[in-house]
Amino acid sequence: MAKFTLHDIPDIASDTLDKLGELNINSVYQLAVQNPSELAWGLSNNFVDIHSAARLIANARKILTENEILSKEFSTADDLLVRRHKISQYKTGSSNFDSFLNGGIETQSITEIAGEFGSGKSQICHTLCAAAISLLKDDSLDDSNNEFSQRLPRSIIYIDTESSFQANRVHQIAEQKNLDPEDILKRIYHCNVYSSEQLEALIDNLPKFIEQYNSKLVIVDSIISLHRAEFSGQGTLTERQQRLGKMLNRLRRYADIYNIAVVITNQVVSYADSSHPGFDYMKAAGGNIVGHGSTYRIFIKRSGKNRTAIMQDSPSHPYQRVKFTISENGIEDTSSYKTEEVNELGW
Ligand code: GTP
Ligand code: MG
Repeated sequence: MAKFTLHDIPDIASDTLDKLGELNINSVYQLAVQNPSELAWGLSNNFVDIHSAARLIANARKILTENEILSKEFSTADDLLVRRHKISQYKTGSSNFDSFLNGGIETQSITEIAGEFGSGKSQICHTLCAAAISLLKDDSLDDSNNEFSQRLPRSIIYIDTESSFQANRVHQIAEQKNLDPEDILKRIYHCNVYSSEQLEALIDNLPKFIEQYNSKLVIVDSIISLHRAEFSGQGTLTERQQRLGKMLNRLRRYADIYNIAVVITNQVVSYADSSHPGFDYMKAAGGNIVGHGSTYRIFIKRSGKNRTAIMQDSPSHPYQRVKFTISENGIEDTSSYKTEEVNELGW
């Protein structure tokens, strides 16, 4: 197990260490995920300029690279393949859905689940919480270089912006699946968030909680609702997008550096298609910023009692769809439906 601290950063001054502590940056990981301009701003009382801040971050990343936690600046493709083998996959509770995902929800990635209200986004998150226990307890889960891993049982962080998390629902799903509900509930660190600023501050400080709670899966349900409600006018769109982009950028770095899975939910916007007058179509909200920020985008559509998940954007999956249903077991397979390829309209 790697043991390194901020004292291992070459030539780091003690007043810089103090100031980092004041900024809640207390580990090499927490320094490595920083952004140079924000860090320089935070350290400005010490007259640390952006170049010095960038050097501090680069030195932290160098330690993680030397310990094979991060990839080198340039890696050969076979090294990248080794790092890819460290990826773990969380099962969803539906074997068809898992094969649609090529195995499950991956670490080192952001998986976005978008869909209209009632489509089942939160139900997927609840089922994931219960089903994740198998992997959280599995010794093959990669945390070989994580110096925090021995402190507490591995856990899940659930950031809830819609007050929609229901512990009793996770309990029910776990019971139905013959999993240990008490163990699962103890491993879920839930946080209600009520404003965009609170969400942004929480995401800024997330590394501290990931380490403190030894979290391997972070769920944000939803990433957009607060920003959408607070930045509703056209004049505020640019600021909203910048703020969303910053959060996603951070989550992406956390997924990579801590080798954790990040799952976010997203809402929809409807738009009229001029080639089909009278029909309204839906697409994921948040525009290109959210689209580019996520590694995988899964769009959920309601189809009667069932739901259809469509893989809309992925570097490694075909453009395909799968049906699933929601029951006391959480999300599960429909009786007779496997994944199938679809065209770009999702049909
Ligand atoms: P918003 O958060 O409003 O955007 O929606 P969402 O996509 O998160 O929807 P959610 O996951 O909350 O899904 C709600 C739907 O799941 C309900 O309308 C039900 O159809 C279904 N559902 C929830 N709980 C159960 C349950 O215990 N049994 C069954 N059969 N269905 C359930
Ligand atoms: Mg929901």
